[in-house]
Amino acid sequence: MEISRLQRRRILLGVTGSIAAYKSAELIRRLRQAGAEVQVVMTPAAARFVTPLTLQALSGRPVRRDLFDVAAEAAMGHIELARWADWILIAPASADFLARLRIGRADDLLATLCLASEAPVILVPAMNRAMWRHPATRDNVAVLEGRGVEIWGPASGAQACGEEGPGRMLEPAEIVGRLQALGKAPLLGGVKVMITAGPTREAVDPVRFLSNRSSGRMGYALAQAAREAGAEVTLVSGPVSLEPPSGVEVIRVESAQQMYRQVMARVGRCDIFIGAAAVADYTPIRPAVAKLKKDQARITLELVRTPDILAAVAAASPRPFTVGFAAETERLHEYARAKLDRKRLDMIAANRVGPGRGFETEDNALWVLWPGGERDLGRASKRELARRLIELISERYGQESRAENSG
Ligand code: CTP
Repeated sequence: MEISRLQRRRILLGVTGSIAAYKSAELIRRLRQAGAEVQVVMTPAAARFVTPLTLQALSGRPVRRDLFDVAAEAAMGHIELARWADWILIAPASADFLARLRIGRADDLLATLCLASEAPVILVPAMNRAMWRHPATRDNVAVLEGRGVEIWGPASGAQACGEEGPGRMLEPAEIVGRLQALGKAPLLGGVKVMITAGPTREAVDPVRFLSNRSSGRMGYALAQAAREAGAEVTLVSGPVSLEPPSGVEVIRVESAQQMYRQVMARVGRCDIFIGAAAVADYTPIRPAVAKLKKDQARITLELVRTPDILAAVAAASPRPFTVGFAAETERLHEYARAKLDRKRLDMIAANRVGPGRGFETEDNALWVLWPGGERDLGRASKRELARRLIELISERYGQESRAENSG
């Protein structure tokens, strides 16, 4: 049997005033069975639906209710309690509690703990369907989600009030299942990752530019995979037609020069840099100020080299763990290894490009090299390859930072 990821995890379970509060008893029982430590905090309204004595008996800890309970504060003060929690799980979360959390009230113990804690907050709403659909609640949910609060559910179905619709609290088994999934330690928790993506556009005149076929998909997939692995992600993106993944900071640029500037302004603050952009190597020396007229049979466009962003990042001091891409039509290994050495990278992901391969496609195949090793990540969708690459990067990054710390 798989070991429970909730073993000894500390869960502060907030119970607020909803008829679904009776389900909290079952939730506590399941959390304890999964090995978690559960500290229940009830709002005054919750205590009208379920008795503190029941939840106390099931959790094996005195239930906390009052911000000004002298005896309880002496045992574990509310700030201590806020620090104790690995997660704050509020189930059921009433419409009123959502509203209070949204405006940052500290008018009872549970709301105060949510303000005082840096632990992730998960809300499992339960309310009448009209309350859930009310614009005020919709607005509160959107604001809370924007702050990174997780909102699970509600489910749809028959409601205690006799109505039918969304507002039912998720079942305890489902809540515990979701927590188990979250319990996996994030690979890149708290690590700052900067990724470049997409093509650049090099202006020829006010209406024309030189560019390439990069879709930005690989870079965007990497940003999403890094975010899902717990990283704080900044995506410096050339013009693409993709939705940025949620929770990622996006800096939009056009030219190689702009991308260079935005990256270099942030390089000192990042731990890992991944250059997935197809940066133009050359740019028109002087873009025309006015639109070029076709009044000549032949014209010459003079180009100059753009700054090599990846090489500049690798040469910065201090430098992040630096990962580049190599798109080659031939001699993949040899050229990629040479690029790794020449640009002094920590890792390079090589892929073969050509008709039907690499650019503008959903699939890709990556071969990853680093000083002293290599790994074939196989052929898969860009999303899947991005996950595999992020896993490998976090593995190598972890080893290097451990080596640095002990060296
Ligand atoms: N890169 C960059 N800035 C540039 C050019 C490239 O950051 N001005 C990065 C890309 O994001 C990619 C890697 O460098 O990670 C690609 O290396 P590059 O030497 O540009 O590859 P090619 O253009 O294929 O090189 P070659 O001259 O070998 O064809």
